[in-house]
Amino acid sequence: MSSALPPHPPLDKYYEGAARRERFVRDIFDETAEWYDSIIGMLSFGSGGLYRRMALERGGLQRGMRLLDLATGTGVVARAASAITDHIVTADASLGMLLAGRAKTRLPAVEAKAEGLPFRGGVFDMVSIGYALRHFADLQAVFAEFHRILRPGAKILILEITRPRSRFGLAVLRFHLNRVVPLFARLRSGSRDAQKLMHYFWDTIDSCVPPDTILSALRAAGFDDVRRHVELGVFSEYTGVKR
Ligand SMILES: C[S@@+](CC[C@H](N)C(=O)[O-])C[C@H]1O[C@@H](n2cnc3c(N)ncnc32)[C@H](O)[C@@H]1O
Repeated sequence: MSSALPPHPPLDKYYEGAARRERFVRDIFDETAEWYDSIIGMLSFGSGGLYRRMALERGGLQRGMRLLDLATGTGVVARAASAITDHIVTADASLGMLLAGRAKTRLPAVEAKAEGLPFRGGVFDMVSIGYALRHFADLQAVFAEFHRILRPGAKILILEITRPRSRFGLAVLRFHLNRVVPLFARLRSGSRDAQKLMHYFWDTIDSCVPPDTILSALRAAGFDDVRRHVELGVFSEYTGVKR
């Protein structure tokens, strides 16, 4: 069996060792769930829902398709998808995030980890993952699960923020995500955890495996036509088709 592929090394600043990562991630999302939507509005300059819908269309979502929006959080991607298809199931490891999303959507919601999904094989036409890849424990295990639950010919869409290659772009993004957004999160919510979550976001982006590693892992998991489309130098859209 191949060894695990974590999206970044353990971040000792937040938790001690890889074994504590899952608990840390679940707890911090549970604790900040009520603030999530207002904070990411700031992250994306308010264009979050619109951008996610355009990315879903670029990724091949069409009317009538059965979509699993995994790591759905409060359902931002799922709500954007509901303008395109009626057949959506959502899942997330954080019950707090799912409950915070209940006021905004009544889509079916399942508490589940990406590494072991409670769905039969071959039941979905597409799986979408918005800004959660950096939080998974093992990309190989997660991609194998996606491959299992999709029917042959089905699509995958992974949205992520990628560390810019230029020094100027990196400096600008770091200032925004590691200074402006955490401060805003603290002022908006009064919550130290919300501030910590935003610093954590930046640290996971900064230490994430490069795009080529993600593309190779998707191919190794059995996806064809694997591509990365980039918007504004930082918004990555990974796509692939189940063999
Ligand atoms: C940054 S939020 C993204 C929410 C939403 N997809 C969006 O686009 O705004 C990341 C989500 O991933 C979830 N998550 C983290 N690790 C997970 C795992 N192993 N399995 C399932 N969900 C996970 C978190 O609970 C959180 O709701």
